[in-house]
Amino acid sequence: MTNPTLVEDVPSAAEFIELRRIMGSPEVSQEAANKTVTGALFTVCLREEARLLGIARVVGDGVLYFYISDVIVSPELRGRGYGVLLMEAVLSYLRRAAHPGAMIVVVPLKGRETFYEHFGFKRCPDGRFGVGMYLPALL
Ligand SMILES: CC(C)(COP(=O)(O)OP(=O)(O)OC[C@H]1O[C@@H](n2cnc3c(N)ncnc32)[C@H](O)[C@@H]1OP(=O)(O)O)[C@@H](O)C(=O)NCCC(=O)NCCS
Repeated sequence: MTNPTLVEDVPSAAEFIELRRIMGSPEVSQEAANKTVTGALFTVCLREEARLLGIARVVGDGVLYFYISDVIVSPELRGRGYGVLLMEAVLSYLRRAAHPGAMIVVVPLKGRETFYEHFGFKRCPDGRFGVGMYLPALL
């Protein structure tokens, strides 16, 4: 392994499917993967030559609502500061794009909350917000 670098580009659908597999996330179709990679507001990839070794994405309306998704560093590179680099790129994008009053959210996997606390994220319930909620399944 030499020196992976950050690049602002989108992964291929196949790369995205593989990343989700590594994360143990539910499988998605090629069509869904294509739509989501091209539909993101912002994507930063960690690459060594062509190989994808990490990613962070933001989806939303680009003005007021932002959802941080798929923050992943390859297992062999973890604990070397690359997660912080990916999140700094995300925060730099958010500072450029978010308008006053914007809502920026992440739903961490259980146990990953402290990673996001490094960047100033607050746990809910907090202030006027109750606990976060999600809809388990529509299909
Ligand atoms: C979470 C993840 C992206 C962190 O990437 P990383 O490159 O290992 O992180 P860094 O080396 O930049 O570490 C940054 C800080 O976050 C902390 N951290 C790293 N992984 C963490 C984890 N899994 N949970 C909580 N804190 C974590 C580190 O201790 C470090 O803190 P320090 O600066 O006080 O020592 C990486 O572990 C990963 O891909 N995990 C699997 C996918 C995942 O859980 N993504 C988040 C889903 S919501």
